Amino acid sequence: MAGTEQSTGKERVGERLRNVSQNFVLHIHSPNVSTYALSPFTTMGLGVILICLFAIQLATGMLLMIHYTPSVDAAYFSVKEIIFYVPGGWIFRNIHRWSAHALVFITFLHMFRTFYKGSYYGTRKTNWVVGVIMLLIVMMMSFSGYLLPWDQLAYWAVTIGSNIAAAFREFTDLIGVTGYVDPGGFIRKMLLGGENVGQNTLTRFFTLHVIVLPVTLLGLIGYHIWRIRKDGGLARPASTPDSSLEEIPAWPTALWAEVAILLSVVGILLIVGVLADAPLKILANPNLPDNPAKSPWYLLGIQEIVSYSAFMGGFVIPLFFVAFLFYIPWFDREGEIHSGVWFSGKDGIRTTSLSVLAGGIITISFVALSLFIDLPGDKGSPQYIILSMILNPGTLSVMAYLFWTLFVYHSTSSRRMTVLALFTAFMTGWTIFMIIGLWFRGENWHFIL
Ligand code: HEM
Repeated sequence: MAGTEQSTGKERVGERLRNVSQNFVLHIHSPNVSTYALSPFTTMGLGVILICLFAIQLATGMLLMIHYTPSVDAAYFSVKEIIFYVPGGWIFRNIHRWSAHALVFITFLHMFRTFYKGSYYGTRKTNWVVGVIMLLIVMMMSFSGYLLPWDQLAYWAVTIGSNIAAAFREFTDLIGVTGYVDPGGFIRKMLLGGENVGQNTLTRFFTLHVIVLPVTLLGLIGYHIWRIRKDGGLARPASTPDSSLEEIPAWPTALWAEVAILLSVVGILLIVGVLADAPLKILANPNLPDNPAKSPWYLLGIQEIVSYSAFMGGFVIPLFFVAFLFYIPWFDREGEIHSGVWFSGKDGIRTTSLSVLAGGIITISFVALSLFIDLPGDKGSPQYIILSMILNPGTLSVMAYLFWTLFVYHSTSSRRMTVLALFTAFMTGWTIFMIIGLWFRGENWHFIL
């Protein structure tokens, strides 16, 4: 009798464990972790830092939302009220703003770490794809928040951003069909809720910023972390010694490490928040364009290549790169030997370093050439537009990155080396275009030294 009771007790415990392990909400934090996963060289803590930043965004955002009014007449003044009258409002705003930038920046770093450490093979490809979607959402979240203060910076940055969204129009204008089919105009209108940045835009951006995007991101983060467990933990090299794979209970070591990361992130943001105020320019004035009007830093690389050709820079090239990001795990299935190995060892370090060099030389050379050579023909003529779509530093650089990648493919016959080459050359070029947009463009987008 006692035996039967014991076995049904055990069955019940087993069933509960099964339920817990199959429910992603209950199962988010693994009860055990390996010393390999705990090592700072494995993850650099970037994923946990991202979760902390997102939590800080939610907490400070909720406090800001209490005093913020999403209307074009009141938004700017409600932000001023937050800064000058609401107790502690200024520091919450500063932290919200700086941690939003940090969230975008560290999401990129985390993508680099998972890419260069070969974490997208086998079943982990799902998490890679979810990651790319999250990267896009994080950028959208930051961009939608940009408009809310309704100052000159916000107004003109979003105007620039929405013009990038309408980039397809250059192509439909060229073939003379914009009057009938205008996907660029349609995307821009969807984004703005009208022809220009106005109340509809503010309402849309506010809704996206405070509800749609954070709720979506929250769900995806939960799924992302749950998947790591389903994929058998973090990607690790086949040669990992058994001693590093031994599991220890997550409580207290891992959880204390996570609390320490959270406290450090909060501490750093507090210091930055006290030392540096988030910008607030004069009230938005649609009749007084900011010159140069610049988009947020993470879109400046695109703005720079849009300045050469709207269609290529705002549509073809970004679409190509995002498609490439999604496609990486299907193109490169070399798997096991690269999984969890930084840069896939010596060959990868060489390919990556050479690709930084190639990406850098290619991009800087084409930009330098464009400063000295003007395209022939009348600006605005169809011939000129076609020529400028192809012979511009953005398009030519991407074509050269592709040639470089082909060269790597032929000389190594390795798909891993091929993706390392294209990803690295592209990211190097993109960073250079961003730096040019940030520091070397003045009034009317003229190059300054
Ligand atoms: C808000 C955005 C994100 C959050 C909060 C997040 C969170 C995390 C966390 C906590 C981990 C485990 C620890 C670590 O690797 O640091 C992880 C792993 C992972 N993340 Fe993310 N992540 C985000 C965005 C991304 C992006 C943009 C990508 C790639 C495009 C990505 C791809 C991956 C992959 C493939 C893993 C598994 C790593 C492995 O097996 O070693 N994540 N993420």
